[in-house]
Amino acid sequence: MSVQTSSSSSLVPNVELHNGVKMPIIGLGTWEVNQSPQCEQCIFNAIEIGYRHIDTACIYRNEKLIGQVLKQCIFESPQKQHSENTHHSKLNREDLFITSKLPPTRVQSEDIIRETFMTSLEELQLSYLDCYLIHWPGTSKLKVTSDQNRLNRIATWRVLEKLYREGKTRSIGVSNFTYQHMIELLEDIQSREDGIIPHVNQIEYHPLLYKTHAQLEDLCKQHSIIIQAYSPLAHGELMQGKYGQVTSRECLQWILQRGHVILPRSIKRNHLEENFKAVTDWASNIIEDQSRLKRLDQLVENEVRICWNPETIK
Ligand SMILES: NC(=O)c1ccc[n+]([C@@H]2O[C@H](COP(=O)([O-])OP(=O)(O)OC[C@H]3O[C@@H](n4cnc5c(N)ncnc54)[C@H](OP(=O)(O)O)[C@@H]3O)[C@@H](O)[C@H]2O)c1
Repeated sequence: MSVQTSSSSSLVPNVELHNGVKMPIIGLGTWEVNQSPQCEQCIFNAIEIGYRHIDTACIYRNEKLIGQVLKQCIFESPQKQHSENTHHSKLNREDLFITSKLPPTRVQSEDIIRETFMTSLEELQLSYLDCYLIHWPGTSKLKVTSDQNRLNRIATWRVLEKLYREGKTRSIGVSNFTYQHMIELLEDIQSREDGIIPHVNQIEYHPLLYKTHAQLEDLCKQHSIIIQAYSPLAHGELMQGKYGQVTSRECLQWILQRGHVILPRSIKRNHLEENFKAVTDWASNIIEDQSRLKRLDQLVENEVRICWNPETIK
């Protein structure tokens, strides 16, 4: 992962996607952050601290609340920059990287996918997204063993490619796709002249679950697909003493060192700051002792999955 300093007002380092789009290497996780005013406060705090990348999804039911904050934080035109100064820092739209995701309940047809995408855009009060992901490799209400799951993934991907070509989103990707799902998708993409390789695969990734992903990581690297580590703190379990003394900073720097983007979630300002500093320090080479990071390789013998297991989906 080659890190560059952002051109925006913040200190967030970026990674470059294979189409040249830059993505900040820390994104704010927002799963379960959907109560007002806690959600709005969390987004304001994060932006004030320097977060420029927000990870949401249709199923998080917070796009509307996030949209209200974004509306207040983004200048609508450069002229407004001088006339509207609130206590919140104001940004240009291009300073932010906003991701949303298509739920598995909405993959049955191009019309449904388009409608879902447009609803996310409207709720977020944006004219384009920076990244749009297929949230899950399966389709709701289909048997996990049904081959229709694979067919739907491929058909859905082709619609995401259209949204991308139409300029509605600056990048597209998948989430929870295993090695096998990726192989099948890439096969279809490469069979077409105009196929677009995903820019991102967002997967559960933390010191309790990473060996499982070795083959997938190699495949993504080979195709320049950026891995975003979701649940990077294993829902906070890593810091609760069960696996020895592990800090959020160690955990996040351990993932960055493995070349992936991190999406930690917190509703507490001090935690948001702590997590952000782990990244800016990492970018300035202020890194935890290597022996402390190395020990995170061996925290558990049998890997622990915190979220749903996509391996069961055919
Ligand atoms: N694509 C998918 O299927 C998928 C699935 C899961 C998650 N995600 C994305 O990934 C994001 C992050 O994953 P996650 O929400 O599962 O969990 P996480 O980021 O691994 O952990 C969040 C928990 O850690 C605590 N925490 C955060 N910073 C801390 C710190 N510095 N010190 C101590 N505790 C800290 C938080 O509590 P406080 O709020 O009290 O700080 C919260 O309980 C999600 O929000 C979502 O955006 C995607």
